[in-house]
Amino acid sequence: MKHLLGTKDLTKEEILTILDMAAPMKDIILREIKKVPTLRGKIIATLFYEPSTRTKNSFELAAKFMSADTVSISVATSAVQKGESLRDTVYTLEAMGVDAIVIRHSRNGAPHYLASFSKASIVNGGDGQNEHPSQALLDLFTIREHKGRIEGLKVLILGDIMHSRVAKSNIYALSKLGAEVIVSGPPTLIPEHVKEYAEVCYDVDAAIRKADVVNVLRLQLERQQAGLITSLQDYHATYGLTKERVAKGKDDLLILHPGPMNRGIEIDEEVAYSRQSVIQEQVSNGVAVRMAIYYLLLGGAQA
Ligand code: CP
Repeated sequence: MKHLLGTKDLTKEEILTILDMAAPMKDIILREIKKVPTLRGKIIATLFYEPSTRTKNSFELAAKFMSADTVSISVATSAVQKGESLRDTVYTLEAMGVDAIVIRHSRNGAPHYLASFSKASIVNGGDGQNEHPSQALLDLFTIREHKGRIEGLKVLILGDIMHSRVAKSNIYALSKLGAEVIVSGPPTLIPEHVKEYAEVCYDVDAAIRKADVVNVLRLQLERQQAGLITSLQDYHATYGLTKERVAKGKDDLLILHPGPMNRGIEIDEEVAYSRQSVIQEQVSNGVAVRMAIYYLLLGGAQA
C-alpha cells in the first residue's frame, strides 16, 4: 500500500491486515510511555481544509507515538489564503521532505487527485461526501474487539446516509468482511444506489430489533438542503436513538457514533453514555488504527 484513499479500494485481506496490526498498536498506547521508534526520521503532515477534532488530532498523536516528526498545516493561516493551489501546497510539503500527507477536503476525490502526482503517501482523512476510511477501520476494529468477529453480524447504519462519508466507508468495509449491512433513516437521506450494498429498512424500530450493532450518524446540518427533513424535532422523534428504541433491541446491542454528536437529535445523551455505548472507545481505538495505517504505508515493517 502506498496510499489510503478509501475502503472501496481495499481488499478483505488488506482490511484484516490493518485491523490485526492495530491490536499491538493499542498495547503501545496503553503503556505509561507511549513511544516507539518505528517511524523515526519520517515526516507526516496533516492538511485539513475542513474542521476536525478526532481525526486530525489522532493522526497527529499516532505519528508522535511512533516517533515521526509532524507538521500541521492550518489552512486558515497558510499560503492557501493567498491563493496557493492544493497541488502547489503538496509540492511545497514534498520539497520539505514530507513522507505522508493526511488530507481532509470538502471536495470528493481531493485525496485521489493528490495521489495521482504526489511522491508522498496520501491518507484520506475525509473527502466531501465520498469516503472516510480511517473512521470505518476504527469502527470495524471496535466492533471486532467487542463481538469477536465481523462476519455474519447485522450492522445497522442509522441516519443521514446520503451526506455521510463515514457511512460509505463503513458499508464497503463491512460488506467485504461479510457483515449484513442494514441502513435506516429518512427516505430523503438514503440514496437509491445504497441498495447495491445494504438492506434498506425505513422502519427504525424493526431495524434496531434485528441489529447486533448500530452506528448512528451525525445529522449533517451543514450539508442539508431545504426540505430533506421536516424539522429537528420530527427527526429525533422518528429516527433518533432514544433509550426507548434501544430497549426494543438486543440486550448486547453495541452502539457507535463517529462524532461529533448532535445530542438530542440523532442520539440521546443517556444512550451515548450507556453501558452499550463504545463511543469513547472508538476515539481511543482511532489512534491505534491510525498507527497501523502509518506502519503499513511508511515501511514500518523495515524498522
Ligand atoms: N469522526 C470524525 O471525523 O470526527 P472529526 O470531524 O472530529 O475528525
